[in-house]
Amino acid sequence: MTSLSICKFSTLFTLLLITPFLGRTQDRNITSKVDSLLSIMTLDEKIGQLNQYSVGAELTGPGSKEGQDSIRYEHLKNGQVGSVLNLVGAKETADLQRFVMENSRLKIPMLFAYDVIHGYKTMFPIPLGESASWNLELMQETAAAAAKEAAAAGIHWTFAPMIDVSVDPRWGRVMEGGGEDPYLNSVIGVARIKGFQGESLSDPFTIAACAKHFAGYGYGEAGMDYNNVIVNRETLLNQIIPPFKAAADAGVATFMNAFNDIDGIPSTANQYLQRKLLRGDWGFEGVMVSDWNSIGEIMSHGVAKDLKDAARQAILAGSDIDMEASAYVNHLKELVEEGTVSIDLIDEAVRRVLYLKYELGLFDNPYAYSDEAREKEVILSEEMMALSKRAALESMVLLKNENQLLPLDPSKKTAVIGPLAKDKDSPLGNWRAKAESNSAVSLWEALEKRNFKALTHEEGCKLSVGKNNFFEVLTIEEEDRSSFASAIEAAKSSEQVIMVLGETAFMSGEGRSRSSIELAGLQKELLKAVYEVNQNIVLVLMNGRPLALSWEDEHIPAILETWHLGHMGAEAIADVLLGEYNPHGKLPISFPRATGQIPVQYNHKTTGRPNTQGGQVFFTHHNDIERTALYPFGFGLSYSTFEYSDFKINATEMTASGSIKASIVVKNSSDIDGYEVVQLYLQDVVGSVTRPVKELKGFERVKLKAGESKTISFEITEDQLKFYRANETFGSEPGEFRVFIGPHSAIDEYLSFELIDDRLKN
Ligand code: NOJ
Repeated sequence: MTSLSICKFSTLFTLLLITPFLGRTQDRNITSKVDSLLSIMTLDEKIGQLNQYSVGAELTGPGSKEGQDSIRYEHLKNGQVGSVLNLVGAKETADLQRFVMENSRLKIPMLFAYDVIHGYKTMFPIPLGESASWNLELMQETAAAAAKEAAAAGIHWTFAPMIDVSVDPRWGRVMEGGGEDPYLNSVIGVARIKGFQGESLSDPFTIAACAKHFAGYGYGEAGMDYNNVIVNRETLLNQIIPPFKAAADAGVATFMNAFNDIDGIPSTANQYLQRKLLRGDWGFEGVMVSDWNSIGEIMSHGVAKDLKDAARQAILAGSDIDMEASAYVNHLKELVEEGTVSIDLIDEAVRRVLYLKYELGLFDNPYAYSDEAREKEVILSEEMMALSKRAALESMVLLKNENQLLPLDPSKKTAVIGPLAKDKDSPLGNWRAKAESNSAVSLWEALEKRNFKALTHEEGCKLSVGKNNFFEVLTIEEEDRSSFASAIEAAKSSEQVIMVLGETAFMSGEGRSRSSIELAGLQKELLKAVYEVNQNIVLVLMNGRPLALSWEDEHIPAILETWHLGHMGAEAIADVLLGEYNPHGKLPISFPRATGQIPVQYNHKTTGRPNTQGGQVFFTHHNDIERTALYPFGFGLSYSTFEYSDFKINATEMTASGSIKASIVVKNSSDIDGYEVVQLYLQDVVGSVTRPVKELKGFERVKLKAGESKTISFEITEDQLKFYRANETFGSEPGEFRVFIGPHSAIDEYLSFELIDDRLKN
């Protein structure tokens, strides 16, 4: 296949991926089996299907299991547990399955769930990093690979993808999603769901996916995890829920609700979210699982007086499975018997769980997924490692490359400095499932194998166990400068320096919010000290969130964002540093200039005072900083350079049933072949509610040979112009729309067209 036809194929593939295929149709065969099983179940057995425990050593939420084991054992034996999380391994899952099958009256197979977020044993880039590839096929492939490993180890169900639009980089969980944009999160979410679930859930190489966290978890105040969320209805509808709607349309098997409240009601008890939007408007028929003890947390929110009241609220709202709160197993029976909760509500929830078990093929063979031979064969295979490297190559974002310092010249004497250079653990990232600690290739190991004429290493500052953390996690040293001198010496006697700085794996992720997103600990001081003696610095960043890099951007000539790239990330970084691979990732989230500037997302509203008038201060801005992001959403350089010209639209008016074709010519003006991600943004100039200054509506990854030009076209239809209007209906409004096409979101040039009011739709 020629590169051009590969390109065409990938565009077609992208279109197929993002075309919703409107949920999963219920299979009548299965529903009748579910009904007959349900008819012989006792109330206790029904409630058991709604009860989920964490089994095994791992805790992915607060609490301890001490003293509960005997109760849990009895519940498992009696068929009062429908699913477990955190138990993995072909043998371990088969053993528990056998125990349940041999002891419970109805022998309903157990469902095994686990957080397979960016790999099971083989780690791929963290989701935020991989989202920088804007390569939907790739993300589908890595999700499918993760599913293949996990399924062999007995897992049926992953709690992924996280599709929370994340606007605050202080929030540690930005690493787990697709960034700040609703559209990008939608198409990425769909790609990952298709990857995990494959063509059929009954295929034991695939697993059920879970769209989480419904809804608004990415908007916690001050970026603090588990914090309250104060968003208005319009933001909820137009920014937060679109990826969830796309996930439901794409046939995701399950949803998870969220810890936070929306409109003052905890999501887990929120009938508007779960009954009205998800089940009502979107017709979602799959399973809704609570988050870890989020039913219990309805009490902590101060909305339920006790666990029984919390159980009542959760089941009424549509939370089917109770993860780790023991609220359902302890209180639903009483609630039904006293007539507070109808049996129909219980049956409805149980039906969904049983339906999923049938779909997964568990009634045909409860052990189909737990396959020790397959587990050995697929896990950490060469094929997995090759994919891990490929994904890493595509995920890096070149933020700066002054005077073409990159690619590096290996004949120059090079110093590699920084606490993360030899670290074999941080590249694995947080949410690493069953990856072995310290099992990634370190950047030093990867560089040492390359043909540098002279290469030295100094850590400069150390990794240490965090003092302010409640857990002992590896973080960056804050006081000990004893390694500074040798690092400065090494920099002085080298011609170029690779500084490897950022965050350790557990500085981002769940429960890892930060109040400042500058380079942590002594790293910035070290960087400045090295800069004093050698300015030929390539800053290689490894981190799970955007960082505030104003000083670095002003002084350091080359900056490469590498996130936490997984097992083979370091090999990929070495390829980029040496020019063996041409980077082309684009940021899925804006990088602010300073922490105090957050949030800085590109698709903000105009406000009533968007601009200064006559040089006055009475407009929307901070007095001490530019209003824009340091590196905007969609931004990323390459060793190639691209020129955009001949921007056109084929009409200036469009009817609701018509379309507009927008096109631009993109030229690779360099002598290196490369990829460019060409992005389409629209602005709805006047709306019945305030509208974003720009919204991503499409993109195309295009490969251009050195010197090659190509015309890139986008078709704009009414669907892309729809939003939740002032009266909360979804549709378009007539008037002016601006079209922007370019290499990132900070583009000013636009062309306008008018949507004509010929037959307005609802
Ligand atoms: C809590 C997290 O919020 C959720 O995303 C995860 O799936 C569960 N714990 C289970 O580990």
